[in-house]
Amino acid sequence: MNLREYESWGLKISTVLWLILVLASAAVAGRAYAADVPYVPTPANVVDTMLNLGKVGPDDYLIDLGSGDGRIVIAAAQRFGTRGFGVDIDGALVSEAQREAQKQGVADKVAFYARNLFVTDISKASVVTMYLLPQVNLRLRPRLFTELKPGTRVVSHDFDMDSWKPDDRVTVPVPDKPYGEPKSEVYLWIIPANAAGTWRWRLGAGAAARDYEVVLEQTFQILSGRATVGAQPAQLGNARMRGEAIEFALVARIDGRDVRHEFSGRVSGDAITGTVAVRVAPSQRLEWNATRVARGKMTIEASARSVPDFVPAHTLRKIYIAQE
Ligand SMILES: C[S@@+](CC[C@H](N)C(=O)[O-])C[C@H]1O[C@@H](n2cnc3c(N)ncnc32)[C@H](O)[C@@H]1O
Repeated sequence: MNLREYESWGLKISTVLWLILVLASAAVAGRAYAADVPYVPTPANVVDTMLNLGKVGPDDYLIDLGSGDGRIVIAAAQRFGTRGFGVDIDGALVSEAQREAQKQGVADKVAFYARNLFVTDISKASVVTMYLLPQVNLRLRPRLFTELKPGTRVVSHDFDMDSWKPDDRVTVPVPDKPYGEPKSEVYLWIIPANAAGTWRWRLGAGAAARDYEVVLEQTFQILSGRATVGAQPAQLGNARMRGEAIEFALVARIDGRDVRHEFSGRVSGDAITGTVAVRVAPSQRLEWNATRVARGKMTIEASARSVPDFVPAHTLRKIYIAQE
């Protein structure tokens, strides 16, 4: 082989290598934009439950990730005048959703985009709905915490968020379900504000005034930690966030008696305003204003085992009613 032939072969080989590279990267790009979830529409009664559980109303902005024929976004607009949009990787479904929105007279309130949900800006939402798959929910989970405002409701059909336990859930009968048992689960999560850190406040006046300090750790919406009242250790329990709303109970030894306090309020930056019910005869309700003196970090990457146990108040109430 002379030099010219050698160079010509070199050129051919590098062209083939280049082509392989281009095709391989196209295949990778194609895969990135392939559907992560097959199309299965949510039945009408489950759509109703999703909207009810998410307390969707006229002031909400709803985003459906993987919107299919647009039924969730369109139903919210029809029933409550809710604005919003849906995204789907399948352009034909997006066109179908756009046509249906026109037909139902809600095209001025809703939009549908042919887009990958993983590159969709969701920061505008006050409600996010999804009917995806467990691993897709888990890939989305960190973004829900970093991009959504506290108080935003996330409603998922059938699939949960692993260690991030739902704030509520409802089972709906679906007799002609195409897979599994003839029922659907609807889950609700409310994006919690970050309440982690050290909080201080004072209750009472004059000689009866006492200083309170609570150090809170937060995993998703669940709080745990330690407390002192008048520098004495106190017992902290039932602590959780629901959006910006905080609640916890505290039992402190005061004047030789165990006094139960039930705190509830709203977190706004480094301040909490709310009330406390002090369960000592006569029981009293007082104003409560706390200040955060040191901020902590909310854990949002926890595995199922590392999330503290919490018995939700509504579950306790149900057990109590069932025993009556
Ligand atoms: C189970 S269907 C749910 C449709 C609709 N939300 C409903 O509840 O009736 C899931 C939808 O997600 C879409 N999808 C899958 N992967 C996607 C992705 N990466 N980005 C956007 N849409 C996607 C599918 O095309 C399909 O329409």
